[in-house]
Amino acid sequence: MVILLNRIIISTLLIIIIIYFIYKNNNQFYKNIKDVKKPYKLDTLVNKNNRLSKYYRPYDLIKINESYSNKNKYLRRDACKHFELLSKDAKSEGYRIIAVSTYRSYFYQKELFNHYVKTKGLKKALIASAKAGHSEHQLGLSVDVEGSNFDYNKFEESKEFKWMIKNAYKYGFILRYPKGKEYITGFKYEPWHFRYVDVKIAKFIHDKKITLEEYKKTR
Ligand code: DAL
Ligand code: ZN
Repeated sequence: MVILLNRIIISTLLIIIIIYFIYKNNNQFYKNIKDVKKPYKLDTLVNKNNRLSKYYRPYDLIKINESYSNKNKYLRRDACKHFELLSKDAKSEGYRIIAVSTYRSYFYQKELFNHYVKTKGLKKALIASAKAGHSEHQLGLSVDVEGSNFDYNKFEESKEFKWMIKNAYKYGFILRYPKGKEYITGFKYEPWHFRYVDVKIAKFIHDKKITLEEYKKTR
C-alpha cells in the first residue's frame, strides 16, 4: 500500500514537472524582449523576442516594378533589385511570382495584428501575425508572394512554390517560417513569406536547412 502510494506521488510529481517545462517553453515568446540595435544589417533578427523601434523606417525603400508586384509595394534597394531579378527570371521560365505584401510600418502592423485578434481571436492571431515592432516586414526585407493561382494563402499549392524552394536562395531570399520550426520562429508555417538576407547568407541557411534564429546563434 505504502509502495503504491509512493509510486502515485512520484508519478504525479513527474507529470507536474513535465507540464511545467512544456508550459515554460511555450511561453518563451514575447518574454525578455531585446531592442534591435542595428536594424540596417541585412541579417538583422526581428521576432517575438527582438523588437524594432516604432520610428524605424528604412532609408532606402524603393518601389518594386509593377510587373513583379501589386501596386505601391516597397522594399529596401538591395532586396528590391534581387526580388525583381528573381521574378523576372521566374517569368522567363513560365512562372508568376508577384509581391503582394512587403514593407509595413509599425503602425500598419499594429492595425493588422488587431484586425487578426478581432476576426480570429488572440490565440490564432499570435501564431499568424506579429505584434507591432516584432514584424520583419518593418525591415523592408520581407516579401509575401503570390503564384499563378492568385492566392498567397494557397501559394504552397502553386507550381511557383516549388520554384521558390529550389531557387529563392540564389537571389538572397530564405523561406522564413518553415514547417516543423514553429517552436524556434514562433510563427506557424508560412509558405508565402520570404526574407532577404543576401546571397551568401541565404545559401548558408538553405544548405544547412536552418532558420535565421539558428543562423544568428552561430555568429
Ligand atoms: N506574418 C508574419 C509573421 C508577420 O506578421 O510579420
Ligand atoms: Zn509575411
